[in-house]
Amino acid sequence: MWKGLLRQYKQYLPITPETPLLTLHEGNTPLIHLEKLSNEWEIELYVKVEGANPTGSFKDRGMVMAVAKAKEAGSKTVICASTGNTSASAAAYAARAGMKCIVMIPNGKIAYGKLAQAVMYGAEIISIDGNFDHALQMVRKLSEEAPVALVNSVNPYRLEGQKTAAFEICDALGQAPDVLAIPVGNAGNISAYWKGFTEYHEKKGTGLPQMRGFQASGAAPIVRGYKIEEPETIATAIRIGNPASWDKAVKAAVDSQGKIDEVTDEEILVAYELLAQAEGVFAEPGSCASIAGVRKQVERGEIPKGSRVVAVLTGNGLKDPNTAIDVKNIQPVVLPNDEKVVFAHIQGAVLQ
Ligand code: F0G
Repeated sequence: MWKGLLRQYKQYLPITPETPLLTLHEGNTPLIHLEKLSNEWEIELYVKVEGANPTGSFKDRGMVMAVAKAKEAGSKTVICASTGNTSASAAAYAARAGMKCIVMIPNGKIAYGKLAQAVMYGAEIISIDGNFDHALQMVRKLSEEAPVALVNSVNPYRLEGQKTAAFEICDALGQAPDVLAIPVGNAGNISAYWKGFTEYHEKKGTGLPQMRGFQASGAAPIVRGYKIEEPETIATAIRIGNPASWDKAVKAAVDSQGKIDEVTDEEILVAYELLAQAEGVFAEPGSCASIAGVRKQVERGEIPKGSRVVAVLTGNGLKDPNTAIDVKNIQPVVLPNDEKVVFAHIQGAVLQ
């Protein structure tokens, strides 16, 4: 039986006899082959479905490690800034560990499912009239002055936990893929995957992928080469203008002969619908930056035909029901409770 990341990957993680083996049975997420899109794009495409984690995003991998280490160090409270998923995950693992959790979020710019999670897990929620970058600056400072443990990805234990996804991909495929495509926000996850692939390769000779990271065009500081003061994108998860792990992400892309690229909101939304309707996989908009990016780079010939590609789907589609309903822009057909009318409608409108 799967017992969670800290037990499974103990030898690869900074675990001491004093580290509580906290778990919500995170990790061990599906790697799904996308048959239709593989055929269409003439590549071998898989998705790593991180939305299958306990709180519905990849953050659980890093959070289980960071909260366990905070508990080990005697902290009673954790704090984070978040575009939503980090706050949901921090709140859940803090609850599990019997700790308090404070989350700071950009007012009005987090998906509803994520807010609902933070509320339910009992976090103290502070919503600021600013963006993620402002919130991160504040919690970093606060954690230096008050007895609270910072659990954003600037906490190195977060990347340690998150690197385990790279191990799982290598184990599932027998080796690293040619290309790893991943959304980039605060740039922690791409850095963690690169660390994971590198460490596994050193131990097991599993090879190294090209790291291809994708920012949303309205929030693409690494692509532009300067901070974005007012980042804007429909993919609120990655609405970040000054990524904390900027240098690490650039290093991962350069060292792996990959690239940090951008995708527009339109391209993200096309990928979001395509993934759900062609393959039955529902991932939140920010996650779909990876699929949008693969599509674009295959079209441009930057990803060669025949490549084995893994796209990371960082969060579950259910996190953001509003975007789903808004983009489809259709209302369900409302009919009277009358068999004849309902059947006639189906015969006429659906089965034609
Ligand atoms: N995808 C999703 C669904 C995310 O929630 C995030 C980050 C990313 C991708 C980008 O990962 O920051 O490591 O480059 N969300 C953070 C949060 C910022 O607060 O939940 P990254």
